[in-house]
Amino acid sequence: MTAMTMIEPMNLLGNSTEAAEKIFWWQKKSVYQIYPKSFLDTTGSGTGDLRGVIQKLDYIKSLGVGAIWLTPIYVSPMVDNGYDIADYTAIDPRFGTLEDFDELIAEAKARGIKIVMDLVYNHTSDKHPWFLESKSSRDNPKADWYIWRDGEKNSAPTNWRAIFGGSAWQWCEERQQFYLHTFATAQPDLNWENPDVRRALYDAANFWIKRGVGGFRIDAIVYIKKPAEFVDGVADSDGTCSVHNMTANTPGILDFLREFKREVFDGHDIFTVAEANSVKPEELPDWVGERGVFNMLFEFSHVNVMFPHGEVWHYAELFKLSDFKQALTASQVATRESWYPIYFENHDKPRSVNIFFPHGSDKILAAKALAMILFTLRGTPFIYQGEELGFANAAFKSIDDYDDISSRGQYDIARADGLSDKQAMRFVHKFSRDNARTPMQWNSSANAGFTTGKPWLPVHDDFKTCNAESEARDKNSVLNFYRTLSAFRNGSDVLIRGEYEELYHDNEELFIFTRTLGDKKIITAVNFTTHDVSLPAKIFDGARKIFGNYSDEKNYFRATEAMIYEL
Ligand code: NOJ
Repeated sequence: MTAMTMIEPMNLLGNSTEAAEKIFWWQKKSVYQIYPKSFLDTTGSGTGDLRGVIQKLDYIKSLGVGAIWLTPIYVSPMVDNGYDIADYTAIDPRFGTLEDFDELIAEAKARGIKIVMDLVYNHTSDKHPWFLESKSSRDNPKADWYIWRDGEKNSAPTNWRAIFGGSAWQWCEERQQFYLHTFATAQPDLNWENPDVRRALYDAANFWIKRGVGGFRIDAIVYIKKPAEFVDGVADSDGTCSVHNMTANTPGILDFLREFKREVFDGHDIFTVAEANSVKPEELPDWVGERGVFNMLFEFSHVNVMFPHGEVWHYAELFKLSDFKQALTASQVATRESWYPIYFENHDKPRSVNIFFPHGSDKILAAKALAMILFTLRGTPFIYQGEELGFANAAFKSIDDYDDISSRGQYDIARADGLSDKQAMRFVHKFSRDNARTPMQWNSSANAGFTTGKPWLPVHDDFKTCNAESEARDKNSVLNFYRTLSAFRNGSDVLIRGEYEELYHDNEELFIFTRTLGDKKIITAVNFTTHDVSLPAKIFDGARKIFGNYSDEKNYFRATEAMIYEL
């Protein structure tokens, strides 16, 4: 293995008195996440492509971002829209070519923006040549590149349930064995215990570093280490146990991750953000910061507050605001010595305006209120395409109209669990990943200007009013609010480096927090209800209001009202 030089140690604390404090480029600006399939189609195919991203670079730049995270664009059968990869170092022709990619890197660079790739290293596609070879016999050179287990055809080795539903084991006729898949059947898990597998993965990541990428988002990384023994887990009512409970964050995982860091990340001016559901706050120092393996970690606690019972189809109609605040504050506190990615949306989540505010809330006020939190918490803000326009959830009629493999699986489980079609569809409408995947709305022309063909997923029917072109013209739009706030955050030392403190924690109506640097303070306050709420005494004394989602001022909070004050 190649020896790599160490990157200079992280020193980027919220502690402003540190003279040697170093702030990295990825802390100074936001990241914009693109789901290329739904961004802009330049060929009429109905799916977005890399040239579409190149075309919109000036738009993206106007949001004050320093990096674009692209969800997977590699060769893929698209069973899970690119998270099932069949070649780690080639671009899927549906998205374009390697030349398009190089042009994107160069054009983005000319605008001060870096491109961040998605590494999906827990599993490949079942059409990846590695898997085709592995499954062909029990004694081929790649025979143990995946997780194979003996068993009787109709009796899986354990009761583990895949994240998208069904058994996590799939029978393979050729080998007369089962293989493990944490996600879909078409996404077999790689065997990280095999050094050749790890080497091949590191080589692929280094291929993209050589092409000039600015970092990586690392998918589902908590699942790469499997337990030494595979045993049944405590069963839910259907007799199965989520594979997550049995394999996430298995001891020994850090050995793999430290090697990954040494072989790929160290010595390069890149950033890494890992998707790491279930890493506990007390474990964070091993994962992020000076002695951790990644620069940032996406954890799920604040976006999962509406699932107090675990299963997504048993969601809470209304979550407790104090739980949401508690989750955000816990992350802010736990990453005081390191760094945090702030996000409310991504390609797996519903639209935030439908989730974090009660039914009946004004969507434009809600989008602006969330933006105020996004840009004033401590960490790098991640904006998901369309969030900056205030996109809302879509609701397709039947489960057959949904593309999302996860919604389809969860719908089946919910039905088997006794929910009616209407109840199961309510859950799908609210939480389907397709809510985030409807095409970008560029203008009010046909298909919102996304494609001249037939869009792969229907365009949201609000596109005539909610689109980039109209919002650019309207000085009070969500888009212009994002642009102004983002520029303010990028230029504010207090917001980049200041310490976080939450006020009035037990209040179930308001979220109020401060950021402090020396004698400067910024206060963010949001009313999460649809009614008037009186101002807690004194918090704004002597402070000047700098942002609000209402144009005038009252001495109380109106429905969904949010304000930022400076002291
Ligand atoms: C997490 C990704 O964000 C999601 O879209 C994907 O389906 C799974 N990992 C499996 O790769």
